[in-house]
Amino acid sequence: MNSWVSEQTAHILVADDEPQNLRILTELLSDTYAVHPFSDGASLLRYLDKGKPADLIMLDVIMPGASGFEVCEKIRSRSAYQDVPVVFLTSLDSVKDEARGLSLGGVDFIIKPFSPLVVLARLRNHVRLGLATRYIQTQNELLENTVQDRTRTLATILEASPIGLITIDGVGTVKTCNPAAGSILGSQSTDIVGSPLRGGLADHIAGDELQSLAAGKRIPGFERNLKRPDGSSVTVRCSASSLQDDKEGYKGAVIAIEDVSEQKLIEYQLHHAQKMEAIGRLTSGLAHDFNNLLTVVIGNLDLMDKVLPESSPVREFMSNALNGSLRSAELTRQLLAFSRKQVLQQRLVDVNRLVRSMITLLSRTLGDTVEVKLAEQNDLWPVLVDPSQLDTAVLNLASNARDAMPKGGTLTISTSRRTLTKDQTNGKCEIPAGDYVVIEVQDTGIGMPSEVADRIFEPFFTTKALDKGTGIGLAMVYGFVKQSGGAITVTSEVGSGTTICLYLPRATEIQAQDDVLPATLTKTAESGGKTILIVEDCIPIQMLARHQLTNLGYKVIVADSALHGLAVLENGVTVHVLFSDVLTPGGMNGIDLARTAKSRWPDLRILLTTGSLDEALRHEVNEIGLSILIKPYRQSDLEQKLNETIG
Ligand SMILES: Nc1ncnc2c1ncn2[C@@H]1O[C@H](COP(=O)(O)OP(=O)(O)OP(=O)(O)O)[C@@H](O)[C@H]1O
Ligand SMILES: [Mg+2]
Repeated sequence: MNSWVSEQTAHILVADDEPQNLRILTELLSDTYAVHPFSDGASLLRYLDKGKPADLIMLDVIMPGASGFEVCEKIRSRSAYQDVPVVFLTSLDSVKDEARGLSLGGVDFIIKPFSPLVVLARLRNHVRLGLATRYIQTQNELLENTVQDRTRTLATILEASPIGLITIDGVGTVKTCNPAAGSILGSQSTDIVGSPLRGGLADHIAGDELQSLAAGKRIPGFERNLKRPDGSSVTVRCSASSLQDDKEGYKGAVIAIEDVSEQKLIEYQLHHAQKMEAIGRLTSGLAHDFNNLLTVVIGNLDLMDKVLPESSPVREFMSNALNGSLRSAELTRQLLAFSRKQVLQQRLVDVNRLVRSMITLLSRTLGDTVEVKLAEQNDLWPVLVDPSQLDTAVLNLASNARDAMPKGGTLTISTSRRTLTKDQTNGKCEIPAGDYVVIEVQDTGIGMPSEVADRIFEPFFTTKALDKGTGIGLAMVYGFVKQSGGAITVTSEVGSGTTICLYLPRATEIQAQDDVLPATLTKTAESGGKTILIVEDCIPIQMLARHQLTNLGYKVIVADSALHGLAVLENGVTVHVLFSDVLTPGGMNGIDLARTAKSRWPDLRILLTTGSLDEALRHEVNEIGLSILIKPYRQSDLEQKLNETIG
């Protein structure tokens, strides 16, 4: 920054055609200043044309060639010397001349003969004033450059900022709006500026908030869901700070807006996944225990059925109890489906064929008021799913659609191939990239608000009357689709209807080759004389299995743990079939036992039983190629599985 120029280094130019005057003035001023004498105006002007410094110029008014006034005019026409103070020297005390000199920018008029002391004092004042003026001008220029620099930097920051920044005036009219704010709010910045603040932001920054801002307070972060002019919505986090002026006080506010939609979505997905995982763990534990209990109940009812005389009046009660138990088993199965721990019987499925085969049943079930439409895309890829589960899933969706259309409507089931080239977030569901067969179930029903749509896959979440819904239907669909490696999306609008899409992954070629339908067994195996080793720790189930197998004509040995079972086999007792629970106590489970037994006694036939199977165990079972009997089972199921196993 320029500092004040010292008076001693000031340059004074003097032009006078009278040599004596010139000499006196030069001597007078030389003590204090750098003096440059000229005998006429032309030589002074030539000196200036070289760009030499001049802090004050003294001009004799009457000079040969150009007069002092003419020289002054020429000095003023040179931009670098426009503001240099000019003092005129004259021997005529004429008001007219003085007026002309001052009008040309002269700062003083000195009448000859002059008193050296007065001249010195007056010149000193002019030199100081001139220097001060120049200093202020330089400072002003510097200041102006600094302001311009800062303004440019600020404009670049505003332009590049991903955070939307809006300024409003004291009455809430938008004064400025950066591009990020425009794109977050879905409008051109130019449409926003000059208008009052609109939408959810205006709702928040009004009333109390405006008063807080006027009082100089800051409004800390708040979140809002805003609707853009094109109808899309965005979640923003905003904060506002008051703009205060020392003199006028409150001038308006700066509002910062950040688009947090994606962050909110990820938070939601994480929260939702954790919630579903927790509910899944809870339900699968419950369902597993239930299946064991139901195995005992159903199995014993079956046994009673075998021993009760045909005419017994107890038969009716028993049949009711059995129906109730079977219905409980169905509910438990759906719970397990939700927690992705059911034992799936996956096959290569032609989705079009499966859906087509359901249409008549659906039309009948949904009643006359609901029109059922099917829109198939040809040449669908095969998918590897459990067909009976897929049946149930579509049925569940259709029955929900019927409930959503009490006055009738249209249910459209469409099938299509879809290739996602990158991971997609559809609604609130993550779908990995890949090839999918999509089953879309669309109704024209009542739709649902987002609070309901957010929870529909939770087990036991229902909006229906107690006797109308259990809240298990979609939980089953969700679990089944997830367990099959797929995804599910929901789009719904209150009053317009709902669309649920099941994304089922295309079966790979290896899966297609591996899919060998099991031979349907018609043959009944010879049970006579064959020995079955039961490995089961639950005593009632153990007793039941013993009864059932004895009824079927097998000899039975019982072990209450896998290690115990292994010891029996090692003892050399002849065992034809190992029938083991999967979850057995004592550190060795049924699958470990089966693996060991298979390698040591290759002729031994193995059948496992379980109420639920998690991903890791399911993988092991498939790897070893074991047969599984699902709990709860009836004696006939056990008989059929044994026949398949013995071959
Ligand atoms: N197509 C739909 N239209 C509107 N709301 C729906 C639709 N499908 C599901 N819902 C909502 O989701 C909730 C959960 O559905 P879900 O199928 O899991 O249970 P439910 O139908 O209530 O009972 P359940 O299927 O066990 O008999 C329903 O109660 C309903 O509020
Ligand atoms: Mg339902």
